[in-house]
Amino acid sequence: MVWQTYKAVKIPVIGLGGIMNATDAIEFLLAGASAIQVGTANFIDPAITMKIIDGLEEYCQRLGVKRISELTGALQVD
Ligand SMILES: Cc1cc2nc3c(=O)[nH]c(=O)nc-3n(C[C@H](O)[C@H](O)[C@H](O)COP(=O)(O)O)c2cc1C
Repeated sequence: MVWQTYKAVKIPVIGLGGIMNATDAIEFLLAGASAIQVGTANFIDPAITMKIIDGLEEYCQRLGVKRISELTGALQVD
C-alpha cells in the first residue's frame, strides 16, 4: 500500500503497521515511505526505536548510503 500510495501522490508518505525491526523499517522506506511509525513493538521492547535507528545506520553504512532519504522509493519493480 505504501508503494501504491508513493506512486500516486506527490507528498511524503509515512509507513506504519507491523514494523517490528530495522528490516521492516527498511522495507517500508524502499517501498516509498519518507518516515515510519512504530506502535505495538514498543510494548514488546521499549528500546525498539533505538535498535531500529541503529539498524538503519548499520544498513546505510554497509551499502554506502549517505542520506537515508536515498532509500525512499528505491525499490525496483520490473
Ligand atoms: C496503544 C495504541 C493506541 C493507539 N490508538 C490509536 C488511536 O486512538 N487512533 C488511531 O487512529 N490509531 C491508534 N493506534 C494505531 C497507531 O496509530 C498505528 O496505526 C499502529 O499502531 C501502527 O502499527 P503497529 O502498531 O503495528 O506499529 C494505536 C496504537 C497503539 C499501539
